[in-house]
Amino acid sequence: MDTQAALQAIAEASSLEALQQLKAQYLGKNGLLTGEMKTLGQLAPQERRERGRVLNEIKQRLEQALAERSHTLEAQALEAQLEQESVDVSLPGYAFPSGGTHLISQMQAELLGIFRRMGFSVVEGPEVESEFFNFDALNIPPWHPARDMQDTFWLEGSSEFRIHAPGGQPTRDQGRLLLRTHTSPMQVRYMVEHTPPFKIVVPGRVFRYEQTDASHEAMFYQLEGLVVGEGITMADLKGAITELARGLFGSEARVRFQPTYFPFVEPGAQFGMWWAERERWLELGGSGMVHPNVFRAVDEYREQMGRPRAYETLTGWAFGFGIERLALLRYGIPDIRYFYQQNRLSFLRQFKP
Ligand code: FA5
Repeated sequence: MDTQAALQAIAEASSLEALQQLKAQYLGKNGLLTGEMKTLGQLAPQERRERGRVLNEIKQRLEQALAERSHTLEAQALEAQLEQESVDVSLPGYAFPSGGTHLISQMQAELLGIFRRMGFSVVEGPEVESEFFNFDALNIPPWHPARDMQDTFWLEGSSEFRIHAPGGQPTRDQGRLLLRTHTSPMQVRYMVEHTPPFKIVVPGRVFRYEQTDASHEAMFYQLEGLVVGEGITMADLKGAITELARGLFGSEARVRFQPTYFPFVEPGAQFGMWWAERERWLELGGSGMVHPNVFRAVDEYREQMGRPRAYETLTGWAFGFGIERLALLRYGIPDIRYFYQQNRLSFLRQFKP
C-alpha cells in the first residue's frame, strides 16, 4: 500500500462522499490497510511487533488526515451555504406607503378637541334630510331663497312624516327630501330627542348647489354648536367662541361679532377672528340666540310625539361655521378646490401628520 498516495488522495478529496469512499478503501473491513493488518499473524513475533507498530502509525496518520479533510470540507460547505443564503442589506427594501389623515379631518378633530375640553358632547346627524328639519323647523319660510332650486340639491321621494309647521298650519312641501344645506337641522333633531340643559357640537358634511370657485364648494364641512339651558346668554356664546379662537390661535386671539340675519336666531351675529399673521379679520360663520319660533317648533313636535314641552321657557345659542374656510385662511391655501375636486396627493401630503 502506498501511504503517500493515500494521504494525497485524502488531501485532494473534493467532497465528503469522496472522503467516505477513501476511508472505506483504506480502513474499511476489506480496506487495503486492514488487509495488511490481517497478514500480521503470519509473521514471526519480532517482525510482527515491528510491522504492527508501523501499520498502526500509518493508520493513525490516515485517520488524522481523514478527520482534517473532513473538517475542511464541512467548513467549506457551510461557507458556501452562508454565501448562498446571505441577505444583501444594501438592496432597496419594499416600500409600503401609509395613508394620512386629510387636512380637513385633522382640523375637525382639533376643533372637536377644543369643544370637548369645554364640556361639549359631539353628535352627528343624517346628510339626507327632510325639508322640515332643514328649513321649516328652523323658521326658514317657504319663500326663502335658500329653498331655491339653485341653492339646494333636492332628492326624489319624500320623508315619511307629515309634521305641522310652527303655528299649526302644515306647509306644502315639508315632506320633500334634500341633501342638508347646513348642520343646523341637527339642532332640531337633538332638541326633539333630548331634555335640556345640554351643550353639543355637530360636525358634518353639507351640500349646496353652487357654482364652485376659489372659496365655494358644493360639498363642505360645517361645525354646528348648540347650548340650551336656563339663563343662557349671548355672553356665554362670546365666551365659547373666544375659547375656540384661543384654542386655534393662542391666548392672544381676539374675536368680533357683527349683527346679521339668520331666520333661526335672534339676535343674529356673524363672528370672525383676528388673524395676527396676516393682520386681518377672518370671517368664520354665523351665530345667535335660538329664535323662539325654533323652540316652539321643537315643543310642538315633541307634543305630537307624546313628549313634554321643554324649551319655551329656556334660552340658548347656536353657531355654525365652515371648516374648509378656516383651513384656507389658517394655512394660506389659495383655493378651496384643492381639498376635494383636485385631490392631488402632492398637495394633500404637505399636511400629512
Ligand atoms: C349657515 O349655514 C348657518 N346654518 C350658520 C348658523 C348656525 C348661523 C347656527 C346661526 C346659528 P352660512 O350659509 O353663512 O350659515 O354658512 C356658514 C359657513 O359655512 C360660512 O361662514 C362659510 O364658512 C361656510 N360656507 C358657506 N358656503 C360655503 C361653500 N359653498 N363652500 C365652503 N364653505 C361654505
